Amino acid sequence: MKPKIIHWSIIGIVGFGLIGCVLVILAANPALQAEDNMPRVTEMFQGFQDGKCKSCHPAIWREWEGSMHAKAWVDEIYQAAAKQIIDRETKCDQCHAPQPILITGVGKMPKLRDKQREAGVTCLVCHLDAHGAMNGPPASAETYFHTNVTNPIYTEPTTLCSTCHGQQSVPEHDQVSSFLDGKFADGNTSCATCHMPVVKRLQSTTSHESIKGRKHTWRGSRSVAQLKRAATLQLEYTDGKANVKLRSKTGHILPGGTLRTIVLEVTLLASDGTELQRQQISISAENENRLLPDENRTYPFNINIASATTGNTIKARLIYQLTPDTPEPKRILMAEKTLMIR
Ligand code: HEC
Ligand code: HEC
Ligand code: HEC
Ligand code: HEC
Ligand code: HEC
Repeated sequence: MKPKIIHWSIIGIVGFGLIGCVLVILAANPALQAEDNMPRVTEMFQGFQDGKCKSCHPAIWREWEGSMHAKAWVDEIYQAAAKQIIDRETKCDQCHAPQPILITGVGKMPKLRDKQREAGVTCLVCHLDAHGAMNGPPASAETYFHTNVTNPIYTEPTTLCSTCHGQQSVPEHDQVSSFLDGKFADGNTSCATCHMPVVKRLQSTTSHESIKGRKHTWRGSRSVAQLKRAATLQLEYTDGKANVKLRSKTGHILPGGTLRTIVLEVTLLASDGTELQRQQISISAENENRLLPDENRTYPFNINIASATTGNTIKARLIYQLTPDTPEPKRILMAEKTLMIR
């Protein structure tokens, strides 16, 4: 090489120096190195499209497919709301059809994807890095299809979740801040504790053994079981005074979403079931009275003493409403307590 360089013009030497510099930068800078792996990233998007993830990870795929993450774009409630926003592409769509967040930056505002938008929050959004590798908890097997990278953020994934569920500039969709301020964040609890229950299984069709993983179902406000765990209700009655005690068991502000309403309804019923009195309180973001994690709240029920006699019943019900338009039959009973006046 050396003798040749001597014969080069001065421009040639400068040019060679530049290439050298670029090579040094490439080796030292992971961001630039990543661009080298764009073909791998593209291959993963193609694999997702062609059903490759589904064929090797059928159980996880089925769970994800039924989750709100898979529906984050096609969700009618979302589309109806986004249609009313003129600059939805910069204000809304980036979290409902995002690029992989390991590439755009965990914790940073996601960026809108230009393809496969209807697939919503896909496997790639949470797992694919700029090298085209799959990040996750420790794996038990290798595959020819993708590289596995063990990444500690999956073990307690609150930081991962906060990328979309905890942006300071989008308080409507923030479950993370109230979680971090509450008592559930003190122990080993993370968002996954309640929304991705532990399961032992073969993690892929080519795995050798069953290992611990977590369900990709993310049950939230559409799950009756989840709503029944959200809060407890107590009813006390003494001398014409009834108190309803509400305690939140939810990891974050309750209800978690700003479209939701929880109605506390207390009724006084005659022994034949006739309704004598009714009181309702709506708990929602709009009313600025959502419950904090582990909060205890007492609501007095002012009984008209004249109508309260032995044999009457006080009934307290906690009812969940997904949107202001949810019709009565689709509202969910979260808890119910009755007490007979003796
Ligand atoms: C920072 C990411 C982010 C941005 C930006 C964002 N969303 Fe969301 N959106 C979420 C998350 C996370 C949820 C689920 C949790 C929740 O409901 O708070 C959600 C849920 C929703 C829901 C509830 C859907 C349902 O099924 O009930 C609606 C409606 C919605 N978003 C509309 C919008 C609109 C309109 C915009 C733009 C003004 C927007 N979002 C911007 C992350 C985001
Ligand atoms: C040829 C089969 C095969 C295909 C196709 C495949 N995977 Fe995997 N994947 C595996 C195996 C095997 C493991 C290791 C599982 C274990 O630990 O038992 C794995 C592990 C993973 C992990 C965990 C990585 C870690 O280190 O914890 C993720 C995430 C993942 N795959 C996502 C995907 C996605 C997304 C696709 C589609 C783009 C996909 N896989 C396609 C076989 C496959
Ligand atoms: C890339 C953005 C993004 C990330 C990361 C993300 N989510 Fe979501 N999540 C959403 C969006 C958007 C929705 C709303 C879908 C809809 O209703 O339209 C949602 C919905 C949900 C729901 C269901 C809400 C309901 O109404 O039933 C739960 C529960 C949930 N996410 C939990 C989590 C947890 C736990 C994590 C972390 C492991 C996480 N999410 C990570 C964007 C994200
Ligand atoms: C909202 C983010 C999110 C999405 C979307 C998502 N995952 Fe995961 N995934 C996680 C988290 C968090 C873990 C870590 C769970 C744990 O600690 O075991 C995980 C773990 C895994 C693992 C390791 C085994 C296990 O069960 O823990 C595999 C394999 C995997 N995911 C594949 C997939 C595939 C395939 C898809 C799409 C069908 C997908 N993931 C979609 C967040 C996500
Ligand atoms: C102690 C259990 C627990 C923990 C921890 C927890 N959640 Fe929840 N979450 C619930 C329950 C119960 C509900 C149903 C009640 C409701 O809608 O708020 C829920 C609902 C949700 C919803 C749906 C809200 C809506 O209105 O549709 C989202 C989104 C959500 N959680 C995200 C998260 C995220 C992100 C974290 C981590 C910061 C987290 N959760 C931690 C129990 C928990």
